[in-house]
Amino acid sequence: MKNLHHVPVLLSETLKYLITDEKGKYFEGTLGFGGHTSEILNRLGSKGILVSTDVDKAAFDYCKDKFEKETRIRLYNFNNVLIDVIAKIESLEFFDGVFADLGVSSYQLDNVAAGFSYSMDAPLDLRMDKNLKMNATDIVNSFDEEKLAKIIYDYGEERNSRKIAKQIVITRKNKKIEKTGDLKKLITEITPTQYQIKTLSRVFQALRIHVNHELEFLKQFLSNSVKLLNTGARMVIISYHSLEDRIVKELFKYEALDCICPKDAPVCICDKEPRLKILTKKPIVPLEDEIRKNRRARSAKLRVAERI
Ligand SMILES: C[S@@+](CC[C@H](N)C(=O)[O-])C[C@H]1O[C@@H](n2cnc3c(N)ncnc32)[C@H](O)[C@@H]1O
Repeated sequence: MKNLHHVPVLLSETLKYLITDEKGKYFEGTLGFGGHTSEILNRLGSKGILVSTDVDKAAFDYCKDKFEKETRIRLYNFNNVLIDVIAKIESLEFFDGVFADLGVSSYQLDNVAAGFSYSMDAPLDLRMDKNLKMNATDIVNSFDEEKLAKIIYDYGEERNSRKIAKQIVITRKNKKIEKTGDLKKLITEITPTQYQIKTLSRVFQALRIHVNHELEFLKQFLSNSVKLLNTGARMVIISYHSLEDRIVKELFKYEALDCICPKDAPVCICDKEPRLKILTKKPIVPLEDEIRKNRRARSAKLRVAERI
């Protein structure tokens, strides 16, 4: 697995906000293939520390090799929701910044064996963490029609979710759906040509989000992280679709509130303390030039909040 090419998205913006102290201790929850990692390390001094984790074993193994000679990095093959456990192992009480570049890497999308992409026929798996019990094959062959429709609608925002769920149930009566190609075929058969690519992307995204519990883990990761930020430390999060972005936006908003009493309450009785100050009222998005060079960047949104 040499020379993997994953171009880091919104790189200069990430570094500008994240690194406030070159001697600081930073946490990266989505190591991937070490694109942002390398540049974060370039900005840190000799006393800086970067703790990075990824659930994907292939990403972890690749980075172990890539950063073999780097003494300032600590690598983990853990889910990032375990940030507090990792901090304990590292004997760190707080971090000076937390970063995540959500979603899948180019490697996961381009690697046939990983089964993330409908553009190549591969086992229908979609797990980033191969220790998870259920993969996408299990789901499409065992969930009832209503549950499948809900996943496709909620996580893919696909309007034809019911029709697609029905077709999945009809198809699997004759033959188990095991390959990305099986799922692609049944979707394209019931979708007008001009909508096929968008529909396929939405259905695969929906299954991926469900299989990997992406939204639940994101909520947990964000709230666990807030507790571990030093005063003045920043949380820098890049998301790639509206469901993720909404979670980031809402957590930041909640953590920035100084009162959560009902609007008509005569006096404040909630004792809510704001823990974050939002630094990006609107999310930062890539410039045209970056999108031209890297299509993956087109849907990226970066949000930053600072621990008060
Ligand atoms: C977009 S990629 C990161 C790419 C990286 N910034 C780079 O430039 O190479 C996202 C990575 O996060 C990992 N990931 C997703 N959810 C995770 C989680 N809950 N815990 C740990 N890693 C996760 C994926 O396996 C994937 O490798």
